[in-house]
Amino acid sequence: MPNPLPDLVDRSGIELLVNSFYDTVREDETLGFIFNEVAKVNWETHLPKMYSFWETVLFRSGGYKGNPLVAHAKLAPLTEIGKKQFDHWLQLFEETVDTHFAGENAGHIKRCAADMANVIHGKINGVQDPKFDPANLTPEQRARYAKYKSQHEQES
Ligand code: HEM
Repeated sequence: MPNPLPDLVDRSGIELLVNSFYDTVREDETLGFIFNEVAKVNWETHLPKMYSFWETVLFRSGGYKGNPLVAHAKLAPLTEIGKKQFDHWLQLFEETVDTHFAGENAGHIKRCAADMANVIHGKINGVQDPKFDPANLTPEQRARYAKYKSQHEQES
């Protein structure tokens, strides 16, 4: 039987994940140049920042203080950073997690990454989550929300 993969349980696991992820990103055709040429990322500071970021997300320690939205919003006027780039980023992230880890925290970090990719993409590109796009509501939902709205307006 092959050895089961370990779960992500501490900072050293996160360091391995982050190093491995950015090794791939740096070489990636779609994303590499955004880091290397557009943002000219200082890897010596970016990598420890990302260890802290993910440690904060997963274990509520790590002390990350920053604003991921602003960091990515700054990139939007400089390069294409739309759905294609975010989907690809997420795919590489999920593949990297699955290469090294399996378990509850491994699943959790992938779901957090997917949620944040969705939010960051939505905010910087002004795209709503399709689940909440009024164009995608069913007639039944539309009627229900209209009723709710009119009740609410009467109350206030
Ligand atoms: C198309 C997808 C993405 C691209 C091209 C991208 C690129 C970048 C770049 C170039 C930086 C700035 C590095 C620097 O100048 O120091 C950065 C920072 C960062 N990114 Fe991303 N990113 C992407 C998606 C994401 C997602 C989905 C997340 C979260 C799950 C994320 C989390 C972060 C964080 C936490 C920082 C540090 C922000 C700070 O300065 O505090 N990124 N990213």
